[in-house]
Amino acid sequence: MAVSSLWPFQCPSTHETISTIIQRRSTNSTDVREIALCDLDLSFAKDILDLGCGFGFMAETLARRVAPDARLVGVDTWGANEAPFLEKIAAAGRRGRFVCMQLASRLPWPNRSFDLVVCSYSLYYFVDILSEVTRILAPHGLFVTLTHTESSMVSLLRSAGLDHDAGSELLTLTGRFSAENGGSLLKRWFGEVTRIDYQNSLRFGAGHMDELLTYLRFKQLLVPDSEPGDDLPEAVVGFAGTLLSRGGEVVIEKNDTAFQCRRPLCP
Ligand SMILES: C[S@@+](CC[C@H](N)C(=O)[O-])C[C@H]1O[C@@H](n2cnc3c(N)ncnc32)[C@H](O)[C@@H]1O
Repeated sequence: MAVSSLWPFQCPSTHETISTIIQRRSTNSTDVREIALCDLDLSFAKDILDLGCGFGFMAETLARRVAPDARLVGVDTWGANEAPFLEKIAAAGRRGRFVCMQLASRLPWPNRSFDLVVCSYSLYYFVDILSEVTRILAPHGLFVTLTHTESSMVSLLRSAGLDHDAGSELLTLTGRFSAENGGSLLKRWFGEVTRIDYQNSLRFGAGHMDELLTYLRFKQLLVPDSEPGDDLPEAVVGFAGTLLSRGGEVVIEKNDTAFQCRRPLCP
């Protein structure tokens, strides 16, 4: 995976701003993390692993629901995520640890060492890790993963007018583990896979031009060869500006899917 597609996540505060914009502009008022974890009783979970944890978006909700003496380990390629991740765990009164590493196909933990493993919007970066997830998960353990629909990526590209080559890179990344193919991939590794769809869209109206451009700029950084500080193509800015200045709105599909997986089929 091209390093440039990881640029957006090296600055946790920028990533957190994008997360806030998504929450503010979402038409679905229920938090996607609550949907992903919905009816789960997580009080059994004492050893928890968050792969590609970022600034702790999922861990923030998770930490409040696991055992009071739980330990949450976050792994991310960018060390700057350590402080915000640990802060969110501490705010929930749980213990946390951060491991800075580039995940690929191996995990540095013994067999059956975690009760709960989560991967929120990150498995498409290191989908070859799935066999290792089944190895380090306890037999009673649970794996929860959240991902995008490929159709949402197409909607995003249409609303941004991003060019075809850039678009195909974004679609290739999402297509490594998406709502559309995630179920069949996971069934190779788990005896039980439950799917939960989250219907949502982002609506940007006349007063939201800055937020829309901030959001599109962040997504542009997922395209290889982009770098922080790169301007959005003028065509994108013009396209969005024309729509909003006419009193219209930009609507971007933002449907996601969570998978809750049990009975790891350890090789
Ligand atoms: C879209 S963000 C999701 C972050 C967080 N889980 C959330 O739900 O907001 C993807 C995260 O995965 C991390 N990541 C991507 N590839 C990685 C790899 N090979 N090893 C470790 N972390 C990686 C990125 O740095 C980023 O923080």
